[in-house]
Amino acid sequence: MNNPYLPSPMRIEGIVTETEDRNIKTFSLSFLDRGNEAVFKYIPGQFAELSVLGKGEAPFGIASSPTQKGIIEFTVNKIGLLTTALHNMEPGETVGIRGPLGNGYPLTTLQDKNVVIIGGGFGFSTLRALTTFLLDKSNRNSFNNITVIYGARSPGLLLYKDELREWEKRADLQLYVTVDKGDKDWEGRVGFIPAITKEIAPRADNAYVLVCGPPAMIRFTLPVIEELGFPPERTLLSLEMRMKCGLGKCGRCNIGSKYVCRDGPVFTLAELNRLPREY
Ligand SMILES: Cc1cc2nc3c(=O)[nH]c(=O)nc-3n(C[C@H](O)[C@H](O)[C@H](O)COP(=O)(O)OP(=O)(O)OC[C@H]3O[C@@H](n4cnc5c(N)ncnc54)[C@H](O)[C@@H]3O)c2cc1C
Ligand code: FES
Repeated sequence: MNNPYLPSPMRIEGIVTETEDRNIKTFSLSFLDRGNEAVFKYIPGQFAELSVLGKGEAPFGIASSPTQKGIIEFTVNKIGLLTTALHNMEPGETVGIRGPLGNGYPLTTLQDKNVVIIGGGFGFSTLRALTTFLLDKSNRNSFNNITVIYGARSPGLLLYKDELREWEKRADLQLYVTVDKGDKDWEGRVGFIPAITKEIAPRADNAYVLVCGPPAMIRFTLPVIEELGFPPERTLLSLEMRMKCGLGKCGRCNIGSKYVCRDGPVFTLAELNRLPREY
């Protein structure tokens, strides 16, 4: 994996169809050359370029945590050429990977802090990676209270349902799952993420808040976070710009002087406030 433009082959070990509309699937991948696993050192919040022969490549946030050995996971929403090709693949087939890319979440900064995680849609995938990392027994004592607020449009669109059930049982995590609209079987919370965040009102002292999700969710959640007292320096967002090289070379993803692929995709709101509103 010395040439950053050259993809390494990975085998699809498993595929989970996450949503009832079948548009979102999670792929578990392993390196064909096991030696590449040690080279692919990543942290939650980073992404990689996945490629399918003859179809091209695209960036995807890494949905697994480095504490999960042997596999790397990606949660893929089917919207176009490459994502449809991925959705049509079966376990045993091969895809290419380039990465890890981007900065990831600032794990050292989060140590000994309260961590508030707010995610919606498939934007939750890298926050799922972060939550899994923080909850791992080798890491849990390094972080204070962990609050996760996760929402989807409907119960059938919630991702990682088995994991959510496991997290719900834990005493060292406050988990709040919400849907915009319930169905006849749904007994959980109903409400939009900004309103639920306001209701739960996580405390801002000694805390960082991390937000990832659809633009509308972010737009309406940020004022609530500000109202709760989280300063822009302790508000972290992950951006999803169009990208090509992923390496800060092609100029496809810049906002002002920053390249989202190299300087991000994770930025503090304070950093974003200093940039043009091109995201
Ligand atoms: C850092 C980063 C992390 C990402 N993580 C994930 C992830 O975890 N899971 C996931 O499913 N997707 C993720 N994406 C988005 C993903 O890269 C695109 O969905 C993918 O490139 C679409 O490829 P395609 O060939 O299937 O679609 P295309 O055939 O290229 O496009 C289909 C349609 O989608 C639009 N489109 C393509 N890319 C984007 C984009 N980045 N933003 C908005 N609209 C777009 C096109 O204009 C077109 O209308 C991420 C993007 C970035 C930059
Ligand atoms: S994608 Fe090429 S510079 Fe960011």
